[in-house]
Amino acid sequence: MGKQIAFFFLLTILFFSSCERQETKFRIGISQCSDDIWRSKQNAELKMESNFHDGVKLCFASAYDNSERQVQQIDSLVKQGVDLLIVAPNQVESISEAIDRTAESGVPVIVFERKTGSKKYTAFMSADNYEMGYQMGRYIAMLLSGKGKILEILGFKGSSPAEERHKGFSDALKNFPDLEVVSTLQGDWTEQKAYEEVKKHRSELEDVDLVFGHNDRTALGARKAFEEFLGQKQLPKFCGIDGLPGENGGIKLVRDSLLDASYIYPTRGDLLLKLALDILENRSFDKETLLSSAIVTPENAAVLYMESEELSNQFERLEQLHQKADNYLQQLTNQKMISFLAASLVILLLVLAVIVYRYYLQKARINDERDKMAHQQLQFYTEISHQLRTPLTLIEGPLSKLAQTDIIKNSDSQTSEMFAIVCRNTERLSGLINKVLEVQTGKHTGGLSFSEIDNLTVQSSKPATVNNENNNNKEFTLLIVDDNTDILTYLKSILSDNYQVFEASDGKEGLQVAEKEVPDLIISDIMMPVMNGLEFCRHIKDNIITNHIPVILLTARSLDEHQVEGFKSGADAYITKPFSSGLLLARIDNLLKNRKLLKNIWESQNPISEPIVEKKIEPSKPPKPPKEDVFITKFKDYIDKHYSDSELSVETIAQDMGLSRVQFYRKIKALTGCTPVDLLRKARLSYAKQMLEDTNQTISENRYVCRIFFYFVNRRPAFTCFKKASGKKAAVRMQLYFLP
Ligand code: FRU
Repeated sequence: MGKQIAFFFLLTILFFSSCERQETKFRIGISQCSDDIWRSKQNAELKMESNFHDGVKLCFASAYDNSERQVQQIDSLVKQGVDLLIVAPNQVESISEAIDRTAESGVPVIVFERKTGSKKYTAFMSADNYEMGYQMGRYIAMLLSGKGKILEILGFKGSSPAEERHKGFSDALKNFPDLEVVSTLQGDWTEQKAYEEVKKHRSELEDVDLVFGHNDRTALGARKAFEEFLGQKQLPKFCGIDGLPGENGGIKLVRDSLLDASYIYPTRGDLLLKLALDILENRSFDKETLLSSAIVTPENAAVLYMESEELSNQFERLEQLHQKADNYLQQLTNQKMISFLAASLVILLLVLAVIVYRYYLQKARINDERDKMAHQQLQFYTEISHQLRTPLTLIEGPLSKLAQTDIIKNSDSQTSEMFAIVCRNTERLSGLINKVLEVQTGKHTGGLSFSEIDNLTVQSSKPATVNNENNNNKEFTLLIVDDNTDILTYLKSILSDNYQVFEASDGKEGLQVAEKEVPDLIISDIMMPVMNGLEFCRHIKDNIITNHIPVILLTARSLDEHQVEGFKSGADAYITKPFSSGLLLARIDNLLKNRKLLKNIWESQNPISEPIVEKKIEPSKPPKPPKEDVFITKFKDYIDKHYSDSELSVETIAQDMGLSRVQFYRKIKALTGCTPVDLLRKARLSYAKQMLEDTNQTISENRYVCRIFFYFVNRRPAFTCFKKASGKKAAVRMQLYFLP
């Protein structure tokens, strides 16, 4: 199961990683030196452009005007595995080594807008800062009509635009000898620094006609400072560079006359990204790209502002559009993912279901096999018990008989002690065998078959088939069925004092003897050759001649299920070996007594003397009687039909009912306690009684009844009494009194 689940997860990971690969084709690192509106505009343009190219991921970092930080960020971006680095170096020299390292590691580098000392960059893109400084110098000369005092506030020290703009500006002013740069302050591109510097040097600056800041923010900072210390006095003119669109951009500042001129310093994030992709996708590209630019003056500021506003609106709309497209794309990806996950879940559930089903099948099979094995083991132990208990019975029984003999009672102390030892150990052995049988160890591994065990047991010669002893004077007859001669001999020795005993060596022979002799009780072993005890018992109970005979099954099979099997076959009692002779005798006695009781109950509930006429009138059918009563019912029906037949004999009835005379006699006797002749007489009397009760005639008038009556009672004292009687009722009473 683990393997399948691992496979499923592998598939999922592959699926997700394939999504990731599709999304990111190129990772481009952008290391900005500062964080301001110019950089923000450029970053936005880079992002917007990336939207038009699939699989481009941008990673931005800002050094916040700190060269050390920028070096760290460049190294980190390379470590993250960017495919190309775009860098705006904070200073010319301090970043050079980091750029060298990047290029040496195989990552292409685009240096943009600010220059570096490294020569290993792949491409460079920027506006011409010298040109911008130069043009601004010429414009300022024009503004001041070639004469005046100028304050120059430099950009960040060590950065290439600051150096180039200063150089261009200085070169331009060389042509105007009446223009004097009265002060050059060190700025850092920020408004704050310019403000502070101007305030610091205010004493030297009061008669300045124009301030040239290296960018618009610097010029604005200076203006704020001048506004503060000049108050209502005439302010100088202010010029800067950047000419950004938007709320705080230079175009608006010029339009609103806060600045007198600016110079558009192009951001062109779009061109920068295109250059990057040209490099990454191995297209031809220019190593050096100079971006064109233009001056912003009060004359063109309004138009430029309007255009820039329009552009930024378009930009925003594009951004929204892209956002929407992004959302749709995301939804699509989510839906794809959900569908994939749902399908995977279904597959996983199916796989799980199959695994669980197979697991349960396997478990059920194992359980089945275990049950089978357990059953076999149980049978094995049961069979062994049979083998062990039989000889033990044959030791225990004779021993207890011996103990009662004079030989043992009067024996010397040594003999009786030895006899006691034998008795004790026989008892111990019996207890041990019982314990062994109780423990169902299940450890038997085979190798010893029952037939082998059989061979280990000393087999005695087959018993004589039938042994009818001449003890007919005993009240009850028993049939013992067992294949073991020792058991037969032993049982006979126990039982022959009280009963007449018949023997048989297996079920088949037992059936023959039972049918012939119709004994009062049968004792049978279960495990026998030819026909076992259970089958024998079933036959006995299915045979009309023998079905009334109680059967005791005598066996070593002590397990519940075997006893149930025995009772199912119709057995009346079950005695397990080893047994005591006392127990066996008690059970036999009990069963025979119960038989007698049964007969009495039967006679009282179903009197044979019941009036025949009434019985015929009764319409409702009695419930189906038990098997042995079927015989009696048949017998009664027969008598009903033939009681008036003066020739009727027991032989005829037996023959008509399909039994021999002996069988018929014994069956009737066993069931009713009466002989067939007695029963016949009782039926006839009962009929006569009924006839007399139902007629108004006297006995002498009713010749027919009298004839029957005489027939029954002739040569009996009742005849005399009847003759003396005056009325029919008295006669009946007399009759009932004298006759049995
Ligand atoms: C933006 C900026 C601009 C200036 C440029 C010089 O970070 O300070 O204002 O023109 O950099 O590199």
